Amino acid sequence: VVRNALLDMVGVEYPIFLAPLGGGPSTPELAAEVGNAGGLAALAAAYLTPEEMTDGVRRIRELTQAPLNVNLFAGGYHTQTGQDPGPMLQLIAEVHWELGLAVPKLPELPQDPFEKQFDTLVSLKPKVFSFTFGIPPRQAIERARLAGVVSIGSATTVEEGRMLEAAGVDAIVAQGAEAGGQRGTFHGTFEDGLVPLAELVTGLVQQVRVPVIASGGLMNGRQIAGMLKMGASAVQLGTAFLCCPEAGTSTTYRKALLEARADRTVITYAFTGRGARGLENEFMRRMASHRDKVLPFPLQNQLTRDLRKAASEQGNPEFLSLWAGTGVAEVRQQPAAEVMRRLVLETEDALGGPGRI
Ligand SMILES: Cc1cc2nc3c(=O)[nH]c(=O)nc-3n(C[C@H](O)[C@H](O)[C@H](O)COP(=O)(O)O)c2cc1C
Repeated sequence: VVRNALLDMVGVEYPIFLAPLGGGPSTPELAAEVGNAGGLAALAAAYLTPEEMTDGVRRIRELTQAPLNVNLFAGGYHTQTGQDPGPMLQLIAEVHWELGLAVPKLPELPQDPFEKQFDTLVSLKPKVFSFTFGIPPRQAIERARLAGVVSIGSATTVEEGRMLEAAGVDAIVAQGAEAGGQRGTFHGTFEDGLVPLAELVTGLVQQVRVPVIASGGLMNGRQIAGMLKMGASAVQLGTAFLCCPEAGTSTTYRKALLEARADRTVITYAFTGRGARGLENEFMRRMASHRDKVLPFPLQNQLTRDLRKAASEQGNPEFLSLWAGTGVAEVRQQPAAEVMRRLVLETEDALGGPGRI
């Protein structure tokens, strides 16, 4: 194994990180399997209460001693909308009617949970604190450092990368346009943040001094080797792990992923209020011309919660957020340890033999 500063900092064997997979797929079992196979384990904690975070970390520690990344949303949290929510409520009401649900109401949101979650995170002392959707206050990154926790931010442009470096992060995830799930963009528009991964990694490696982690559309070792050659210190994969038996991915979502042959992913705003990539379905198509009516995150996310839940229970993929990266056609139903083993072997092959990763 070829060591680099990032691998030494987080203490893992291979430069392959499990992406934090919020909203269901992230489980302690998936994290532990990736950690035990030499990759970086991750727990998506943004939608968890402090109690759930504590339980999740405890469970992971029962299953593995490997280093852990706990991920939060740091910013982009709107409890109010500056616009009339009426037109969006009307559009959602039509879907509710079709799914047999009651008329939707404008959600009332609690305050941003970040502070309490971050306090919990520091007390749990995972090896890594990663975040997306913004930059936490400088004191938070300092507090993490004092607790021996490495901070990793997420950038979708070189400019965001520079801002993260100035805020004191230890490493940066380059989230390319190919990435599945919600976009981390926090400076400029979501369109500005749709930079192809190769371009983003090349730019960041040139313009920031901290290690760069390439993320978005990576499904095999040939692609991983390409990113390492470009100067990335590691890669972070999400979609590649979504169909592992250890993942919490729902049956309907899993089936849609496995059936996705060619790339049919698109960027939508309709499910959460943030730009996000997933398999195109009826809800996305219907909402595509109504972007101006979409409420900001997480109001829109809360507003679509009931319809997503009902669609999942009814086995209906057309009204479910089917987050997936552009490489989804390559996703396999394989235990996480096997996915890791295959990725390591393929990457070594592409780099010229064993020990080259
Ligand atoms: C279902 C799903 C949930 C995700 N949840 C999070 C999250 O909670 N926090 C985060 O930083 N990134 C999240 N991401 C984005 C990943 O960190 C990563 O950028 C993405 O998975 C990389 O693209 P790929 O899926 O093509 O590998 C999520 C991605 C997916 C597919």
